[in-house]
Amino acid sequence: MEAIILAGGFGTRLRPLTYSVPKPLLPVMNTPMIVGIINSLPPEVDRVVLAVNYMAKAIRDHFAANDIGREVIVVVEDEPLGTGGAVKNCESQIRGKFFVINADVITKLDMVAYLAFHNNCGGIGVLALQEVEDPTRYGMVITDQNNSIQKFVEKPGENEIVTNWINAGTYILEPEVLEFITPEKKVSIEREVFPVILEKGLYGFKYVGLWKDAGTPGSYLDAHALMLEAEVAAGLAKTTHLLGEGTHLDSGVELGENVCIGSGVKIATGCRLSNCVVHDNATIGKDCILDGVVIGDRATIGNGCTLENDVLVEAGATVESGAQLSCGARVRQSKERQEN
Ligand code: GDD
Ligand code: MG
Repeated sequence: MEAIILAGGFGTRLRPLTYSVPKPLLPVMNTPMIVGIINSLPPEVDRVVLAVNYMAKAIRDHFAANDIGREVIVVVEDEPLGTGGAVKNCESQIRGKFFVINADVITKLDMVAYLAFHNNCGGIGVLALQEVEDPTRYGMVITDQNNSIQKFVEKPGENEIVTNWINAGTYILEPEVLEFITPEKKVSIEREVFPVILEKGLYGFKYVGLWKDAGTPGSYLDAHALMLEAEVAAGLAKTTHLLGEGTHLDSGVELGENVCIGSGVKIATGCRLSNCVVHDNATIGKDCILDGVVIGDRATIGNGCTLENDVLVEAGATVESGAQLSCGARVRQSKERQEN
């Protein structure tokens, strides 16, 4: 069985992190998010098809260098084909029913139960659904009492909201769905395909549990908080901290809630970190305060910096000593390109 992973967006909402690392390779809990998704797939999936375009080479290189125990096929779009066009573009790799997964979704959805649900429904496909407070950022999905989807509205306006159940970005589809997608054209599966195939029996699988679309700075940090809290709740960790191999914290470094630090990171004395994600090989000088911050690979933070409340630092970038950055500040590799 195949799983198509939609990994081709530009990740604009996570810039400048995504100027140097494509969104699917950004780490969540110190593992590229796309690898976490692949690891959650049921054993039936023996072939993973990656639908990519932006920074395709980086994604291809990652899987050439790291064996994940399944066949991996990289299908490159010259131009982004949209979520539906990208699926159609992978048609030659599909042998039967298949998964389609958004590469930025962090979830503990039980894929085995999900597949069993689809087989039991016997429709053209099934969408995993999640309940959220504000559906406007998502695809709103209305089902009947038999879980049959009656309506799909992508990014509904405030006045269109009639349910809080949304598309969680994980589908199981029968190959017949491919007949409803025009080849070699930009097609949105959410806007142009789902509304049309409802009558063929499209079902919703209501999932209650850990779920986050990690595609924005806030939700990327929230995804870590949820995962770290889940580790503590499961007795796998004592604190909401995760530290990679070879990471060194000088004495006098204070870690508050929700701190995920990659490998080979150095943090000097007097620093206080909370609600932070620090990628591999970053260096943080002494007496820094970091709260609500993502620091990219190999980035350098000088001494005595305060970075608070939604600050992103691109891989390889430098923050000069004494900098005070907050509220949406973005630091790029070269100083001229620093945005605020
Ligand atoms: N190959 C390819 N080509 N992939 C693409 C393209 C494309 O042209 N455009 C987007 N993608 C990938 C993105 O990388 C992402 O993994 C996935 O498709 C969804 O795109 P997003 O840009 O993240 O969409 P969204 O978050 O606004 O909305 C989607 O996800 C929500 C759940 O997280 C929709 O599927 C919503 O209906 C859904 O609720
Ligand atoms: Mg998304």
